[in-house]
Amino acid sequence: MNSNKALWEKGDFTEIAALMRQSGEAIVKSLGVTPPLRALDLGCGDGTTAVPLALLGADVVGIDIATNLVVAGNKRAAELGLTGLTFQEGDACNLQGVRDHSFDLTLTVFGAMFAPKPFDVAKEMVRVTRPGGRIVMGNWIPNDPTSFVSQLLKISSSFTPPPPEGFISPMTWGVESHIVERFSQA
Ligand SMILES: C[S@@+](CC[C@H](N)C(=O)[O-])C[C@H]1O[C@@H](n2cnc3c(N)ncnc32)[C@H](O)[C@@H]1O
Repeated sequence: MNSNKALWEKGDFTEIAALMRQSGEAIVKSLGVTPPLRALDLGCGDGTTAVPLALLGADVVGIDIATNLVVAGNKRAAELGLTGLTFQEGDACNLQGVRDHSFDLTLTVFGAMFAPKPFDVAKEMVRVTRPGGRIVMGNWIPNDPTSFVSQLLKISSSFTPPPPEGFISPMTWGVESHIVERFSQA
């Protein structure tokens, strides 16, 4: 069993995602996207950022580890008539089947940060993005006093047992030195 996949398939993340649509639209707007553009939304959930990207005319592939969220994303794309948007199952640590340099933009908003092998994630994002393309990550920052989620994670982690040996916290993606190290190695 892949515990990373099992975790995200528990419950129904679409209920939370429904509250985040405005921030998805805002980040996509801030990117200044102009088609033609081939984009990857990694850890896409049910399309909070993939849908607004596709509405701007980009060709978008959403990849997520959770089968239920891929199904929900494809349902949203069909309902909105977005033929340039498809969702598929995959793991950010190993994007097997995705060709090298296939995207102009690789975007991941609170998505790939949750994959357990961050150096592999950085390597895969670099591999599938064309040279000269863009990689954009939205990551929570540890202890950020302005972030509800950062505070929530800080409080909940103080009540849980220590993580298993070798566990790398997703929050390390919110520390610049780690980002530089991971992408430099990639
Ligand atoms: C906080 S949600 C964010 C979803 C979406 N980006 C959004 O903004 O609504 C995190 C997402 O990352 C996905 N995810 C977690 N680990 C992953 C992995 N190893 N590979 C691909 N997706 C992953 C989860 O299934 C979930 O959809």
